[in-house]
Amino acid sequence: MTNQISEEIIEQVRTSNDIVDVIGEYIQLKKQGRNYFGLCPFHGEKTASFSVTQEKQIFHCFGCGKGGNVVTFVMEVEGYTFYEALQFLADRSGTELPEIVGQKQSSVSPENQQILSASEWVAKLYHHLLRFTKDGKKGYQYLKERGIADETIDVFQLGFAPEAKEFTASFLDKKGFHQQTLVKSGLLTQHEDNGVSDRFRGRVIFPIRNHLGKPIAFGGRTLTDQEPKYLNSPESELFQKGRILYNFDLAKKHIRKQNEAVLFEGYMDVISAYQAGVKNGVASLGTSLTDTQARLLKRYVDTVIVCYDADDAGNDATYKAAGILQKAGCDVKIANLRDKMDPDSFIMKFGGEAFQDEVIKSSLTFTSFYMRYLKKDFNLMLEGDRIQYIEKVLEHLAMLESSVEREYYLKELSSEYDISMESLIQQMQSHRNRRKIGPVKDNKRTSSHTNRAPEVGQKKLLPAFHNAERQLIAYMLQDPSITDKVQEEIGASFNLEEHKIIATHLYAFYEENHEADVSRFIEMLTDDRLKKLVTEIAMLSVHDEISDHEINDYIRIIRAEHHNKENIQSLKEEQKLAEQQNNPIKAAEIAMQIIEYQKQWKNIN
Ligand code: GTP
Ligand code: MN
Repeated sequence: MTNQISEEIIEQVRTSNDIVDVIGEYIQLKKQGRNYFGLCPFHGEKTASFSVTQEKQIFHCFGCGKGGNVVTFVMEVEGYTFYEALQFLADRSGTELPEIVGQKQSSVSPENQQILSASEWVAKLYHHLLRFTKDGKKGYQYLKERGIADETIDVFQLGFAPEAKEFTASFLDKKGFHQQTLVKSGLLTQHEDNGVSDRFRGRVIFPIRNHLGKPIAFGGRTLTDQEPKYLNSPESELFQKGRILYNFDLAKKHIRKQNEAVLFEGYMDVISAYQAGVKNGVASLGTSLTDTQARLLKRYVDTVIVCYDADDAGNDATYKAAGILQKAGCDVKIANLRDKMDPDSFIMKFGGEAFQDEVIKSSLTFTSFYMRYLKKDFNLMLEGDRIQYIEKVLEHLAMLESSVEREYYLKELSSEYDISMESLIQQMQSHRNRRKIGPVKDNKRTSSHTNRAPEVGQKKLLPAFHNAERQLIAYMLQDPSITDKVQEEIGASFNLEEHKIIATHLYAFYEENHEADVSRFIEMLTDDRLKKLVTEIAMLSVHDEISDHEINDYIRIIRAEHHNKENIQSLKEEQKLAEQQNNPIKAAEIAMQIIEYQKQWKNIN
């Protein structure tokens, strides 16, 4: 037992968790040159300004300025304390952490910790009952009838809440949980007589896991035609429907591998699809897709296949979800489900292989779907309606950016409605001219331009001395011998306060015989602002080989500015003295000198 984790262990955890792998579990990273780029998880953005360097084991966002090493990243993205982040990484790499005594802070409130722990117990209990006991037999049989295999039941930890009123309450009571916490979490329902009962009793249980795989809520399906069909946990701090996608934790590695995600409407669809071999499926939780969920998907993939029920309500929802996904920058495809089926019933009827080949792999472009979907508003037997329909389609086609695609669909229209290509093109062209609106993306890679990386090392418009200090620190971060030279020549005489502090820390860092290691250096800084600044500077592009000449130049610029500052400072003091001595003429003369000096200085720099 210890009250502090040694630097060696922190180091070990850090080096056994490659920053590119860890961040790659949260966002899609693309290699460009030496760095990796992706969409920043900390602020909403459509172009990738978030970069990671493997060499230096650091990240930096050019958009919002966040930066640091792998530990900082986990703290930020999970909202963890330092210790929690370290624990998370240690678990990930199988490193043993010593037990910490004393103030082991947690980012989760004690009440939420209770709820998480109770949910975990209850998920296990329900699952166990369903799989192995008489009390859960009804639920087990129900799932069997729906074609769900034992293995799938285990993967999704499906369960059954027993009908006995007190069962769950007394189970949790024995485990020492407070009743009020359980009522608040929605596991128990409180009655007017103050008695409590299991909210989900008599229902098949679908645990809803957060992205770390921890159950945070439950969906309970009735076995009868009782209303509601699904009863879900109420929203809470831990469970916000609009921010969570069902099965995201398990699906994400498949999503990454296939660079495609499949979006379903229901729990059962995700589960049957999983069983049919489509493992990159997630679902929104009975509510329509939110911007947050769409952005979450976009961080992982370019393409999302929407696989909702193929009935009128499902098509409306598909159209809506597609719009939200496109707005988040996703390329949208629509699964080829037909005839009012839902994914689960298709799989039951035609099997998993047919589902993969005929539904998922045969997905339609959004435009094909839209052309079909639009028809519902028109009676195409009537000439007037037909014209209006074609107009609507042309309006959409006008927004497609690919001329090949435009022509493809125009041909389809032309042959289906027997209208000449010339007049279709002409009409579409007039839409194109009229609305100079941005193009709609349709099933096309646009990553080449949406993910264009900002120029790394792009010089900001800063005064010369400011840039010189940044450049010099960038070299110092990767080379102790340059640091020695700088220490000798300018010491702490950097002009910007932050740079002064960074330099001083760096001198100390190398004096302790550390090798150049930005990520480790950042670890030792305690001030977040400095951490950010160091990562930003470390991302500047510097040459592997730097000439003495270049270094001397930087040093010269920094010194000159320093002297200038000193000169102005001493002039200001003289000016003050003159004022104190009641010599306004002299004071004014000195003021003029200062202004002149500053002007000259600006011109040189
Ligand atoms: P099955 O009928 O068991 O196949 O369910 P499903 O997953 O096909 O459900 P459905 O397509 O009817 O609904 C899609 C999703 O909406 C479900 O997975 C639930 O998340 C949610 N949902 C459905 N019915 C209800 C309800 O009555 N109340 C609530 N709160 N959510 C529901
Ligand atoms: Mn269904």
